[in-house]
Amino acid sequence: MIGIIGAMEEEVSQLIEAMEEKEKVTCAGMDFYCGKLKDKEVVIVQSGIGKVNMALCTQILADRFDVKAVINTGVAGGLYKDIEIGDIVISKDAVQHVDATVFGYKVGEIPRMDTSYFEADKDLIELAKKTCDEVNPDIHSYVGRVVSGDQFISDNKKKHYLINEFDGYCAEMEGAAMAQAAHLNQIPFIILRAISDKADQEAAGSYEEFEKAAIKHIVRLVLGILDRM
Ligand code: ADE
Repeated sequence: MIGIIGAMEEEVSQLIEAMEEKEKVTCAGMDFYCGKLKDKEVVIVQSGIGKVNMALCTQILADRFDVKAVINTGVAGGLYKDIEIGDIVISKDAVQHVDATVFGYKVGEIPRMDTSYFEADKDLIELAKKTCDEVNPDIHSYVGRVVSGDQFISDNKKKHYLINEFDGYCAEMEGAAMAQAAHLNQIPFIILRAISDKADQEAAGSYEEFEKAAIKHIVRLVLGILDRM
């Protein structure tokens, strides 16, 4: 069973619609749809927005659905200089923009954790990159770092902080929480994010305008990956 998580309804609805032999299980207010997609056993769930929702959701997938891999799909703000709206970031790894520097930790370091940069599964990265080039030939995809925090990034100062301090390729609000939960449960993971905005002053307006197009690319990628698994 593969777990597929999106924070928002629009990030998972097309995938849930495409499922066969669908059954719904509700837990912690989240609807987990179990069934088949592209002939693969999957469980698809809308976690809700933010790191707490995502961590909870991933733990439920680990405890109750015995998933052998988890995929986070959705949209993100672009950080990497060459990245355009509609392009895709495939996680090399993921980090949270936490700050306990006052105690001598580096930015991004979660105090007293063995690691704070959670590495995505190498086979899933390779499969995602190859699949994306095939199913989305009209856009670019990048394997890079996903930076997560409970904040919608919409100013250049914060955007450049995330680029300079973290070498972030995209900013969003959940991926690294799934990554941490997956790491603690020893479950392979990947984060797939289509760029809906550039995390700058225009981000909120751009997000609303381009979200749909970005989701089209990411849905194609998720279906393509399942098809090739
Ligand atoms: N999701 C989409 N765009 C985002 C942004 N700019 N910041 C955080 N999460 C996002």
